[in-house]
Amino acid sequence: MKITVINGTEKHGITYKLKEMFLQQFNGKADVEEFYLPKDCPGFCAGCTQCFLKDQHLCKDAEYVQKIERSMLDADLLLFTSPAYVMHTTGAMKAMLDHFGYRWMPHRPAKEMFGKRAVIITQCLGAGDKSAAKDIKDSLSWWGVSYIKKCKFKLMSDIVWDRLAEKKKNEITKKITSTGRKFADIDYGKPAHVNLMTKAKFYMVRMLQTDLGKKDPEYTDYKYWKSNGWLDKVRPWKES
Ligand SMILES: Cc1cc2nc3c(=O)[nH]c(=O)nc-3n(C[C@H](O)[C@H](O)[C@H](O)COP(=O)(O)O)c2cc1C
Repeated sequence: MKITVINGTEKHGITYKLKEMFLQQFNGKADVEEFYLPKDCPGFCAGCTQCFLKDQHLCKDAEYVQKIERSMLDADLLLFTSPAYVMHTTGAMKAMLDHFGYRWMPHRPAKEMFGKRAVIITQCLGAGDKSAAKDIKDSLSWWGVSYIKKCKFKLMSDIVWDRLAEKKKNEITKKITSTGRKFADIDYGKPAHVNLMTKAKFYMVRMLQTDLGKKDPEYTDYKYWKSNGWLDKVRPWKES
């Protein structure tokens, strides 16, 4: 099975350590591709809107964005990690997520995302782990991913692993390894359950796209929805 990891920081600190502990549970059985931000997606979205209106390949950062996208589409599991920076995900992570605005459900979601699984690991000193995880979850769920596990940590004493109390280290280790084991035990041959919320978003946008298509049959997003058959009977998930 394949895992794509998007690291919200290049630093080999606590976030990195948590990610390593999670991946160790796969006992080398996973094919892991990692991206480190900002190195692997250094540009900010300039707001040109070419991705929305015409084609994502026209983005000035397409070289980086499309490499990450290919990896995510091929993956069975998506792993996002981020420390909390001023109560949110890192700026580098947010900058990368902005580039995937065109993949939000009201535009051109990738059918591969429905039925995929994702884990978000965030940690903070005292507050912000929750809002950092939400920043990432907002994108994942609007990309069409239903099965999202948030694994959040509060350090509460220090931001350097070696200076944490043994009790705290053990508590963190236990939580992340047990989550890692659960995800290593999943049968990735079966797609994840697509929940009602995801389906509700899909049907809302389906109505919107039908309307937009009546006004302008050449509209990029409408043509995408139509060519996928989503305005007819086809759905991006398998009915179980
Ligand atoms: C710029 C910056 C902003 C931060 N903001 C917060 C914050 O708002 N709340 C918090 O609890 N910790 C905050 N922290 C601490 C981090 O969330 C994190 O615990 C620390 O950087 C250790 O993780 P790392 O070793 O992976 O970098 C901040 C750290 C940095 C560098």
